[in-house]
Amino acid sequence: MKRRNLFVFFDSAYQGFASGSLDKDAWAIRYFVSEGFELFVAQSFSKNFGLYNERVGNLTIVAQDGENLTRILSQMEKIVRTTWSNPPSQGARIVSKTLNCPELFAEWKGNVKTMADRVLLMRDQLKGKLQALNTPGTWEHITQQIGMFSFTGLNPKQVEFMIKERHVYLMASGRINMCGLTSSNIDYVAQSIHDAVTKVQ
Ligand SMILES: Cc1ncc(COP(=O)(O)O)c(C=O)c1O
Repeated sequence: MKRRNLFVFFDSAYQGFASGSLDKDAWAIRYFVSEGFELFVAQSFSKNFGLYNERVGNLTIVAQDGENLTRILSQMEKIVRTTWSNPPSQGARIVSKTLNCPELFAEWKGNVKTMADRVLLMRDQLKGKLQALNTPGTWEHITQQIGMFSFTGLNPKQVEFMIKERHVYLMASGRINMCGLTSSNIDYVAQSIHDAVTKVQ
């Protein structure tokens, strides 16, 4: 990126959900900063705070030169004024209070880890169940991928079967939200994927 003089823009929407640790998931951003890059980080708290409708997030700007920061700020203020002007404050207050209070911060970090561990467990179980059912194909990608979503590898017709016949909802691309899997529905979902793969080409 240095050689090609590219500008770095991170889109951080799931911090903590990949590894269970906020610091581990922030590694790439910190690495780029340590390498001297100037960069933007757009951060969303929709997922890791469960505040989907509150529009909470921030834009972190890393610049080498203080004067550049002043210029960026004045540009940002114009953009903000002409687009949303006043953001809703309720969700931002919840996040700010949590991040600035050591007890609440520790509790939230524990919550994020619980979520990440649960998704890792569901990935492991889904892969195991598909392998136990001898579902054609390889299912290693379910545990090799990280985060909240997984590409199942189902094609659009198989996705249609999942939705219409089994009422398991996923994107036409085969992308599924792992958080929707629980110990009570995982057998049903694994069997449905098995049926989709074996009955629909
Ligand atoms: C990678 C990525 N970036 C950004 C967003 C948007 O986050 P927000 O809900 O704060 O608009 C999402 C949400 O789906 C996402 O998946």
